[in-house]
Amino acid sequence: MANQPKFQAIKGTRDLLPPQTELWNRVEQTAREVFSTFGFGEIRLPIFELTDLFARAVGGETDIVSKEMYSFEDRDHTSVSLRPEATASVCRAYLEHGMQQLPAAVKLYYLGPMFRRERPQKGRYRQFYQIGAEVLGGTDAPGIDAEVIEMVMVFFARLRLEGLQLEINSIGHSARECRRGYVEKLKAALEKIKDQLGEDSRRRIETNPLRVLDSKLESEQAAIANLPRIGDHLCDECAKHYAEVKRQLELRGVAFKENWRLVRGLDYYMRTTFEITARGLGSQNAVCGGGRYDGLMELLGGPPTKGIGFAIGEDRLILSLQEAAKGDVAHGPDVYIAWMGEKTQPAAIAAARRLRNAGFRVELPPTEQKFGKALGQADKLGSRYALILGEDEVASGHWTVKTLADGSQQKYGEAELLEFLRLPRGPAKGQG
Ligand code: HAM
Repeated sequence: MANQPKFQAIKGTRDLLPPQTELWNRVEQTAREVFSTFGFGEIRLPIFELTDLFARAVGGETDIVSKEMYSFEDRDHTSVSLRPEATASVCRAYLEHGMQQLPAAVKLYYLGPMFRRERPQKGRYRQFYQIGAEVLGGTDAPGIDAEVIEMVMVFFARLRLEGLQLEINSIGHSARECRRGYVEKLKAALEKIKDQLGEDSRRRIETNPLRVLDSKLESEQAAIANLPRIGDHLCDECAKHYAEVKRQLELRGVAFKENWRLVRGLDYYMRTTFEITARGLGSQNAVCGGGRYDGLMELLGGPPTKGIGFAIGEDRLILSLQEAAKGDVAHGPDVYIAWMGEKTQPAAIAAARRLRNAGFRVELPPTEQKFGKALGQADKLGSRYALILGEDEVASGHWTVKTLADGSQQKYGEAELLEFLRLPRGPAKGQG
């Protein structure tokens, strides 16, 4: 057995290798295309920020901030942290660059790694990747909530991600009576069922009672099912907002399910919250989470500003695509150039250049190979075609193309060759 290498990637982190990275690129490219059709522009943010930014925005009592951040003291003794999420940074950047002066709502999207020291398992990593978007400023019209959700669904549909379930809720307005009154009632009810709760939930009665609602502990489910529901305590304005969000989703043909226990693990949310789950992911099946956070900008020292957004877990999205075998990427080259005879090398180089310029993936062996070996190599790489270039072909200007899946062979001039290669093709050999 080979020796274990001396260094390995740190637990919860991983290398993404080809050909998988092709799928990652396709997903990211699709996000860029879809989001830009909805008027979003990309923001690129730092990977680390002052720890205090996350403590304030996400909440000091949340698991993310209290247990999962990678924080360290910088040389000037300030505490900085690898970002566990990006909404806080987007809001910081919005204020720092005076974007509140801009005439319309600001629509931004971002892609990149986030860091949380969670227990690694399938679909849960310590360095993971999010694709997120935020709408900042403007109004809190429910049509915005619905359009943001619609955009995620359009993106998923474009990727042919199946088995999706969208759940929505309203958790009321944090500055209004509805949330405060509800939390008091919830606390009182939780006190009464304390002995049916585990240690974490008991602690949360004081620190973060809403979070008890999204407990996944089997032993707590029966007790939680009977707790008071926020939907019965929304003030008139919040109830109206929520009803209109649902109507706006229906207008857009976006199917959803209401889940009164959907409170989310970050403190900045108010009113609309949502999550999307996908198939084939086991317990870590949330591929997207988001909601409205109209109070966050003030918490960061800015003026009252509306905000709503989401983040998609890209690792999970990719896993789900792979499980559904939709994520198959063409592995090998389109064309393997099997050239023979030293004098044909210039023609082979020129052919490779022309085919690559036309967008084909081309493998050009650096040294001459025997015919049999070249075809064997083309096959091993999973190439679709072998372009056979011998002295005869160069002299006649007609190239032999071998289709590796069925072994058929034809001769083409350059223009016909490009046309032939562009024809819609079935799967390459060895791919389903
Ligand atoms: P979040 O629910 O914490 O929300 O994360 C969003 C998504 O990131 C999750 O649904 C999941 O797919 C993925 N994710 C989270 N943690 C991990 C992990 N350890 N490994 C793999 N994937 C993970 C936020 O982060 C908010 N900033 C979303 C938001 C934006 N709300 C408003 N705007």
